[in-house]
Amino acid sequence: MKQDLHTLSWLNLPNLPLPLKALFIGYLLVVGVGLGMAGLQIMLTHGMADGKFGLSVDDIVYSYYGDRSGTKLASKLNGSMSDKAPLAVREDIIKWAQQGAPEAQWESHYKAVFAKHCVMCHSQIPGIPDFTKYAEVKSRAEVNDGATISGLTRVSHIHLFGISFIFFFIGLIFSFAVNVPKTAKIIAIAFPFGFLIIDVMSWWLTKLSPHFAWLTIIGGIGYSLASSYMWVVSMYQMLVMSRHAKVYGNAWAQDL
Ligand code: HEC
Repeated sequence: MKQDLHTLSWLNLPNLPLPLKALFIGYLLVVGVGLGMAGLQIMLTHGMADGKFGLSVDDIVYSYYGDRSGTKLASKLNGSMSDKAPLAVREDIIKWAQQGAPEAQWESHYKAVFAKHCVMCHSQIPGIPDFTKYAEVKSRAEVNDGATISGLTRVSHIHLFGISFIFFFIGLIFSFAVNVPKTAKIIAIAFPFGFLIIDVMSWWLTKLSPHFAWLTIIGGIGYSLASSYMWVVSMYQMLVMSRHAKVYGNAWAQDL
């Protein structure tokens, strides 16, 4: 058996038949663009979570754990809306928001407070919440506790199924590489799966405690590096090394 395998001396990335190379290169190109897009999407969604561009541990905490220190209403009234009403009025609204903005007091008291200080903008300017409506006020009075369990379950299973497929094929292609020590091959092929598990676990852990947010970064960097390495080596061997018209031997047999 081992003898038979040794005879397949073309079974390596530089010497593969052209139709198979077209398949592998086409796949790697599309997956490469896809991974780039995924990175961009992370920057634009999670990266902006804390209001600043660029992905940071704070963004991850904000996305998964939330900001449990207070409500949106409170943070705005202490921040960019602090000049819209006197301190006593703002404190009154914040206190009500912290109690969950009970509807009983809306009609009797707060509707008028918002009417006096807020609705000249918050019912006129498009794109900002309309504070003549209780529901819009209420939703800004809820504590932001980050990702929901159903959201996490959905993203986790899509991620695990989808990305493991990508790593499977990148790894399979890379297994035909030559001149890569067997141990390095095993590590590069196995690591992305491990980091993928770490990444997905870290979202759930960060939901429980903000201290785990750095695990998300480690997971993401880990599998990006491992898959980039396999991508670059595979492309190089198929496109550049193949030009030397040399026969490299059976890559799988070399790793037996
Ligand atoms: C002069 C116009 C103006 C007044 C008056 C005003 N706001 Fe705003 N408010 C804005 C604008 C513009 C934004 C969007 C920009 C921002 O978030 O700072 C905004 C955003 C907000 C947000 C964030 C909404 C979201 O979901 O992103 C909250 C909460 C808020 N205002 C509360 C209030 C409250 C409470 C009052 C009354 C005490 C008030 N504002 C009075 C103009 C106003």
